Order: sequence, then structure tokens, then C-alpha cells
Amino acid sequence: MFYLIISTLFFTIFSTSISSLHAEEFWVTLTNDLYKNAKYQGNVPMSYEGENYKTGITLIKIDSAYIDTLSYLKHKNPKLQGFITHYTINEARNFLNKDSINESQQFIPPSVDYTLTQEALIPQFIAEIKESNIVDTIKNLSDFFNRYYKSTWGTQSAGWIKNKWSTLANGRADITVSEFKHQFAQPSIIMTIKGKDKPNEILVLGGHFDSIAGYFGGANNRAPGADDNASGISVITETIRVLLEKNYYPSRTIMFIAYAAEEAGLLGSKDVANDCKKKNLNIIGVMQLDMTNYKGSEKDIYLISDNTNVRQNTFIGTLIDNYVKVSWGQSACGYGCSDHASWTANGYPASLPFESTAEEYNPNIHSENDLLSVTNNRADHSVKFAKLAIAYVLELAK
Ligand code: BES
Ligand code: ZN
Repeated sequence: MFYLIISTLFFTIFSTSISSLHAEEFWVTLTNDLYKNAKYQGNVPMSYEGENYKTGITLIKIDSAYIDTLSYLKHKNPKLQGFITHYTINEARNFLNKDSINESQQFIPPSVDYTLTQEALIPQFIAEIKESNIVDTIKNLSDFFNRYYKSTWGTQSAGWIKNKWSTLANGRADITVSEFKHQFAQPSIIMTIKGKDKPNEILVLGGHFDSIAGYFGGANNRAPGADDNASGISVITETIRVLLEKNYYPSRTIMFIAYAAEEAGLLGSKDVANDCKKKNLNIIGVMQLDMTNYKGSEKDIYLISDNTNVRQNTFIGTLIDNYVKVSWGQSACGYGCSDHASWTANGYPASLPFESTAEEYNPNIHSENDLLSVTNNRADHSVKFAKLAIAYVLELAK
């Protein structure tokens, strides 16, 4: 009780000073359970703007400083579901009014053929994967004090990825590495390998590189984010290295994306996916890698079943069976738990192969303890995801 009074007092004093510091307001759609927790247990100042009774999603308006608080409360209570941040009331209302996104979850562009044909090539590429490279990249990224979307380290870490990927590109004329700018300082980083035969058909391999920890003031908290999600970025980086090492020239265009500000409500990926949709780009498949290095469950890989494309998930299952040769299952987040949801919301086929079931994930995420030492400074689990990413690229960009 005493603790409750003190913490409430602390919260009240702190929240008043925070809200006078930040004027920026965001609209947030969130599941009802998280809404109630934030309002009644967390005392988060917010205004109620509406509710969709069919989906149980609530719309609120809150000061941007409290986005971190939502994230914190959510992970203190792993049973609570999630939230998505919107810049405009229109975008938020559109999202709120959707009854379901099931229809878009079934769509696959007609040019896609999921028949496996690269059996001769894929094992040769997979043989080049080095666990030590994945370890090395996780180390480099988790050494940043944090990669928070509004901190200076958050911006520097984007620069580190851009530089790393540019070095791997090694001046190849068909490759560009660029910054995708947002309304906040941290950019997303996009590497594009232009397809030699079908450049207008695009494959996306992505993951977020930002990290978060703590109640507020995220910019000053230690947030190594080794598993969430240096591990995903490191798998993507090793995939790029192997493809280029093998002198690979894809038929279709491939975009490798390190998204900014996922932890603030999928902000970076939403900007990128909306932009692709606006340009009417033909994205034929999206694989999201978010948390790959902690083996929390019996099976090796779990395909997240909600906010993802059923047919692409089935295809990825056959890739695991044929090329990765490990056990896999399915699991549901219950909400748009990562950047794949931004693509699904735009009608693009997206999947999320995950490190464990949605419940048995690495308990250290979103804290100062999300370190590589949790996995004994190894990345064996991540290697399975690198194999899968290579198989996905070689079978779909052909
Ligand atoms: N890597 C997590 C997503 C995750 C965590 C999936 C645990 C499955 C199990 C991601 O970075 C994250 O933290 N997402 C947020 C939601 C987002 C919309 C802010 C979350 O889960 O709270
Ligand atoms: Zn996270």
C-alpha cells in the first residue's frame, strides 16, 4: 500500500512535468485490456476518442511522452495485447473502423509461384553462413547505450547499419543504400538490389533496429536490445553478406529494411509500407525478423499466425522443412506485435518467423538485461533464421 502511494505520487509529479515538456499528441489504437490497464492501473493521462465494439479496439489521444509508458505496461503484463500509434486522426479512425483484415491476409500477387526449384543452389549459400558474424553484429548494435528513436544513439546506430550495409555492397552498381526519413530524427535504412529481369516485382526482408527500456525518458535509459531486435538485423546483415559474397544477381528486386521506431508503435514501418502503397509498388512478399536468438520453446521456429498471410506462411513452412530442417510450429501474438502488421494493413503478404511461441519469448526484452550474454554470447538460434532468410530470398527473387 505504502509503495502504491509513493509510486502514485512519483508518477503524478513526474507525469505533470513530462506533459508540460511535450506538446506533441499522438492518436493510439489499442486493445481494450491494455487501455484499461493504462487508464486505471497506470494512471496514464489520455483522452478517450472512441471504440470499435466488434474488434474490442479503443482509440485514445495521448501525449507522445506516454508512448513509452504503454510499451512498459504492456511488457510488465505480458498477457496484455498491443497498440499502434497514428499521427493523424484520420489514419487512426480508418484503422479503428476496420472490422478485420482477414481478406488481405489471403492475397498473393498472381505472378508468385511457390514451387521450390532452387534445391541445387540453396545448400551452397547456406553453407557460407557464419555464426560469428551474427554474434559480431549483435555485439556492435547492443554496445550502443540504446537505439531509442528519439536519442542521439538511436540516430548513430542507424548510421552504423547504413555504413555496414554500404561496405557489403562494395560499389556494386545495382545496389543502393539509403535513409528513409521520418517525422523524428531516427531514419529507417533501406538497401535495394535491383532485379535484373523483373525489377518491378519486389521482395522485402526487414526488421526493426530501434530499442526501448523503462517507463519514460527512453532516450536516457540503457536499452541494449540484443535479442529485440539486434538479432533480427544481424540475421539480415549476414544474409546480405552471403548473397553478395556468392555474387548473387536476383531476377526480382530485393529490399532489405532496418525500420526505425517500431517500439513506439510501428512508426517506421508504417511510413515505409504506406509509401510503397502510395507508389503502387508491387511487393510480392515480406518477411519480418524480430527476435531470433532466444530458444524459449520446444520447437525451433514459430510462424506467427495473426496479421500475416496464410499462404505465404504455408510456403515458409515448406522452406523450413526442405532447407532449414528444424522443427516448427505456429503461434499468435493477438495483436500487431511487429512491423509485418504495417505491411498486412496495406494488403501486402507478410510473415513473421519467431524465436519461440508468442508467450515463451526472451523475458529480458525491453530492459537493460537484453544482452548477448543471455545466450552465452552465441547466436546458434539465429543461424536457423539466416538459413530461412536465404532460402526465402533465393526461392522468391528468382
Ligand atoms: N519484438 C517485439 C514483439 C514481440 C514481443 C512479439 C514478444 C512476440 C512476443 C516488438 O519489438 C515489440 O515490442 N512490439 C510491441 C508492440 C508495438 C506495436 C509497439 C509490443 O509487443 O509491445
Ligand atoms: Zn520490442
